Amino acid sequence: MADWNTLFYDQKNIELAPEPEVVKFIELLAKEFPNQQELRVWDLGCGGGRHSVVMGKMGCEVFISDNSSKAIELTMKKLEENHINYAEALTSMENYPWSEKEFLHGVFSWAVLQHNTLDKIIEAIDCIYDSLIANGYFLGTIKSTKADLYGKGEEIEKDTFVLEMGIEEGVPHHYFDEDGIKQLFPDDKWEMMILAEQVVNYVEKAEKFWSFNPFRYTTWCVLARKR
Ligand SMILES: C[S@@+](CC[C@H](N)C(=O)[O-])C[C@H]1O[C@@H](n2cnc3c(N)ncnc32)[C@H](O)[C@@H]1O
Repeated sequence: MADWNTLFYDQKNIELAPEPEVVKFIELLAKEFPNQQELRVWDLGCGGGRHSVVMGKMGCEVFISDNSSKAIELTMKKLEENHINYAEALTSMENYPWSEKEFLHGVFSWAVLQHNTLDKIIEAIDCIYDSLIANGYFLGTIKSTKADLYGKGEEIEKDTFVLEMGIEEGVPHHYFDEDGIKQLFPDDKWEMMILAEQVVNYVEKAEKFWSFNPFRYTTWCVLARKR
């Protein structure tokens, strides 16, 4: 059974280029917290560290977490090579990893929160909430029910599927519809700044196109501010 830890041992599964959204996110935090010398930002589900390094290069103190030891190892190596201050936690998203609460300016989580069952995703959002200072920001992408693979694999609970083939065999994916994603960020705790459903319609695609696909995938894009 594949899991992300196994996948990260194969160089071709490690994405190198960061998503440009990370730069805009740190710029937004710098604008929102102009008196802060060093922004504290958590890359939740850091993977190979492509975003953590950008955050560090932009002057942030970086907090990294992942439940894959290989991901943490790869990211730590990148941060050390670039002389970036960091703290790391090898843990699953539903566990609060830091000794402090309400101390971070931002939490960034790209294509991670979907890899769990709904109850644990809700716990992960609570951890994010607890880590942020008031008016701190969360930016994340989370799978939409309009995504290509929705409905594929074994449904282990409503809208959570485990693929039985491909590189993500054995990895759970939970998919959110509009009501579901809104419920994840309740109004009394979060101010939704941007909720966008990015839908990519692949009109034609070759077999196993995901193994070479340079384009984007269908996903929810969330920018929310802690109240
Ligand atoms: C699609 S990769 C994205 C990695 C990184 N955010 C990026 O954009 O390059 C998904 C990441 O989520 C991590 N992950 C999966 N399940 C997790 C869990 N339960 N807790 C924490 N991280 C998890 C994987 O180890 C992997 O690093």
